[in-house]
Amino acid sequence: MIPTPHIESRNKDEIAKTVLMPGDPLRAKFIADTFLADVKQFNGVRNVLGYTGTYNGRKISVMASGMGMPSIGIYSYELYKFYHVENIIRIGSCGGYTPDAKLYDVILAKDAWSESSYAKVQGGYESDVIEGTPELNQRLMRFADELGIPMQIARIHSSDVFYRENFEEYKKIYDKYGCVAVEMEAFALFHNAKVLGKNAACLLTVSDNLATHEATTSEERQNAFTNMMKIALEMAE
Ligand code: HPA
Repeated sequence: MIPTPHIESRNKDEIAKTVLMPGDPLRAKFIADTFLADVKQFNGVRNVLGYTGTYNGRKISVMASGMGMPSIGIYSYELYKFYHVENIIRIGSCGGYTPDAKLYDVILAKDAWSESSYAKVQGGYESDVIEGTPELNQRLMRFADELGIPMQIARIHSSDVFYRENFEEYKKIYDKYGCVAVEMEAFALFHNAKVLGKNAACLLTVSDNLATHEATTSEERQNAFTNMMKIALEMAE
């Protein structure tokens, strides 16, 4: 059933088995322009840009997810189910919940805790924790090690809400569930991978910290995310 409502490619081979997913379409373009060779754009619907190219001669795709679980829920489902994508690695930013999550630190999400109804509504899944795919995480840990890039492996919070009225609530989520940082997509991505028998991982760079109130500018972020991208790009095959 391709093209899909949200992806216009008419040929499955235009998309690699492994797709890197930043939230921002312009970051997808930046990654394609900066790191990939022989680049071909395969999606432009709603400006959710998707590209396939090669990294050190190996094929890989990069496509934006948009922000939030409804958005990544749609794009990851269509890639897995209709384009035969096997691996999706989210590469995103997160807000640290503890002073130990320092600006620009790279975090690999072992699992995601969420109060979202996404997994329950999508497939009747009742738990509020979903793991990333352990085999992918092991590969990413090995790549980080080989590249000499420090990386924490931890539980993260996937939130539906960026602006909470009760700002202090993050402390409870850290204390009660052990989430070291917050983002807005991993839980839905991990769920889709699980129901479709596919693989998913989530790499994050700390862009702000709720405990220390530190934050990066959007220009600073573009370069600072290079470490995370290098780890993820090693997934090319
Ligand atoms: N909240 C939610 N998602 C985020 C944040 C945050 O503070 N920072 C980066 N992604």
